[in-house]
Amino acid sequence: MEQLGFAIAVLCLIALCIYVLCKALQPAKHITRRDGTPNDEKSTLSDPYHDIEPLRNFDWSTTEPIKIRPFKPKYHLTMALEHCPLSELVAIDNTYLERMQIRKSVMDQHPKETYQCYEPCVPAVMEMYEWIFGTYLPRRFPTMYRLFDSSYIPADTKSTASFLYNIPAGKYIALRAATAEEALYTLGYHVDDDILILLPLSTAPDGLPIYHLQAYVCCFPSGFRTDEKISLPLASIHSPVPGYKAKLEKSMDKFFAKLELGKAVRRVNWSITTNDLLYSQGGNHLYSGGKMDSGVSAETSSSSKPVGGGNAKTLDVDAPDVEQKIEQQKKDVVVENCRLRCERQTLHRLPNTKALVFMFKTYQYKLEDLKAEGSGPELAEAIPGLGQGSVPDMAFYKRGVVWGDKVVEYLRS
Ligand code: HEM
Repeated sequence: MEQLGFAIAVLCLIALCIYVLCKALQPAKHITRRDGTPNDEKSTLSDPYHDIEPLRNFDWSTTEPIKIRPFKPKYHLTMALEHCPLSELVAIDNTYLERMQIRKSVMDQHPKETYQCYEPCVPAVMEMYEWIFGTYLPRRFPTMYRLFDSSYIPADTKSTASFLYNIPAGKYIALRAATAEEALYTLGYHVDDDILILLPLSTAPDGLPIYHLQAYVCCFPSGFRTDEKISLPLASIHSPVPGYKAKLEKSMDKFFAKLELGKAVRRVNWSITTNDLLYSQGGNHLYSGGKMDSGVSAETSSSSKPVGGGNAKTLDVDAPDVEQKIEQQKKDVVVENCRLRCERQTLHRLPNTKALVFMFKTYQYKLEDLKAEGSGPELAEAIPGLGQGSVPDMAFYKRGVVWGDKVVEYLRS
C-alpha cells in the first residue's frame, strides 16, 4: 500500500514537471494591435489606443471648464511638455453644446480656412476619425457617446453602417466617413479641439524626418491663418514666433521625429486678447522682421452670431510708424472686452499611419473672474515678465505692448 502511494506521488511529480516544461517552452503570447501588427513592447500587454480609462459618472453639463493659469513672473520659451495619458486627450465641459454650434457655424462660413486635407494625409484623417468615434469617445465618455449597431438606427437614415450616438447633441455619427473633408468636418463639429495632422515629408541634414502640416480642422485659430500653414514644415509654421529658431526648432524637430507610439504629451500657453472672438485669423500678434499677416478677422463671438469684418490690429513692429500705431491701438483697448486666452495642447502619434496629431482646446477667461479668484497679482506680474525672460520680443509678439498697461492697471485696481 505504501509502495502504491509512493508510485502515485512520483507519477504526480512527473506530470507536474512535464506541465511546467511545456509551459516554459510555449511561444510567448503577443498581443496584437488593432491593425494586426504585433505589439512587442514588454511593458504593454495591452493596446494603449484601446485601453481608454472610462469616466463612468461623467456629467458634461455640470463640469466647469478647467482653469489654466500657467503664467510665471518671467516668460521663458521652452517646449514645456509633460506626459499625458492617452485617456486624457480630450477634455469636455459644460460649454460643449454651445461650442459645437460655434464650430459648425465657423466651418460653414469659412470652409477652406477651417478644414482641409492634402492627398497624402487622407489615410491619417480616416484613422483619426475612426479611432476617435469608434473607440476613444465611447470608451472615455460612456455617458455621452454610445455605439449602435445599424439594426438600432431609425430606418429613415437608410444606412447599413454602424454609428456612434452623441447623446447631448442627439446626433448619430457614421463610424466610416465618405471623404477626408467629411471626416474633418464631423470631427470639427463633435470634438471641441482643433486638430492638425502632420506627416514626415522631408529630411533634416542629420537624417531625421521633418514633419509638415498636411490636414487640419481648426475653428479657433488665435490670430493665424491655418490655410497659409498647410504643407509647411514645423519651423516655417512657427516663423513668426520670436526665438523659435534659436530656442525650439532643433529640439522640436527631434521630439516630433522620436515620439513613440502609445505616448502622448501636453502643454499649455497663454495670452491676452482684446476681444472674445474664438475664430481669429489676425489681430492677436505683432510681427517682427517685415512679416505681417493679412489682418483679416472674420469672426465669431462666443456671445453673438458670426460676423465678418476687417481687423487691422496686426502690425509689423519694424514699420517706421509703429510707435504711433501702437499708441493708437492702446487707446482702443477696452479692458472689459479683454480675455485671458489659453490653449490646452496635446500631441500623439496614430498607430497605423504613424502620423502626428496636434490638438488644442481653447479656453477664454474674463479678467474680472481672474481678479475675483485671486489670480490678479500673479497675472499682473507675468505681463511685464513677457519682456523680461529668455525672449523679450514675446511682449511684442503677444501684443503685450498694446494691452499690457491697461490690463495690469485693472488687475491691480
Ligand atoms: C508640441 C510642440 C509645440 C510647441 C512647444 C510649440 C510652441 C509654440 C509657441 C511657443 C508659439 C507662440 C505662441 C504661444 O505662446 O504658444 C507657437 C505658435 C504657433 N504654433 Fe506651435 N508649438 C508646438 C506644436 C505646434 C504644431 C504641431 C503646430 C501645427 C501643426 C503648431 C502651430 C502653431 C501656430 C500656427 C502658431 C502661431 C504662429 C503664428 O503666429 O503665425 N505648433 N507654438
